[in-house]
Amino acid sequence: MEIQVLDKVFVPFISAERIDTRLREIAKQIEADMNGEVPVFIGVLNGSFMVVSDLVKYYEAPCEMSFIKMASYIGTQSTNQVNQLLGLDIDVTDRRIVILEDIVDTGNTLVALKKLFDQHRPKEIRIFTLCLKPEAYKKDIPLDYVAFEIENKFIVGYGMDYDKHGRNLPEIYQIKE
Ligand code: IMP
Ligand code: MG
Repeated sequence: MEIQVLDKVFVPFISAERIDTRLREIAKQIEADMNGEVPVFIGVLNGSFMVVSDLVKYYEAPCEMSFIKMASYIGTQSTNQVNQLLGLDIDVTDRRIVILEDIVDTGNTLVALKKLFDQHRPKEIRIFTLCLKPEAYKKDIPLDYVAFEIENKFIVGYGMDYDKHGRNLPEIYQIKE
């Protein structure tokens, strides 16, 4: 069923059931890859709050977790700088960290995150993203866990917003064109 969020119409795109199935699979995969070591999951706010909550419920081995928030500053130039890490409260030095993202689009946020975490000298940085837009992603940071590769269209729901609205939708919707 179509829904309206503010001035835009969206159509159902990825159901709660499909999300659930992929998250169970990936949680098991991460668990195997960690080989008995305890990872630090780091959710990137705000968009990842729902996927983090669901993913870690399927991760059955010990883990630590925290959330961070990236602040974006639009400079005087045309480039959109994303930097500044707010609220990292776990010492990640020599730890295996898994960054949990809602969606990777251009990858600008990811580049900034990687740069910031590298300064803390973790043992390893892995990246999980719920959605990836391969047509838009032009960076060379490898993505270790991608739940869904999607076309380059705007989506909303399951944590992701359209102008701050729609984060509470339990499924993912795509803009109707
Ligand atoms: P990037 O830095 O261009 O990779 O963008 C990443 C961020 O932009 C995501 O974490 C989202 O917050 C936002 N974003 C990108 N595409 C979408 C979309 O289709 N719907 C909602 N938010 C999006
Ligand atoms: Mg995000």
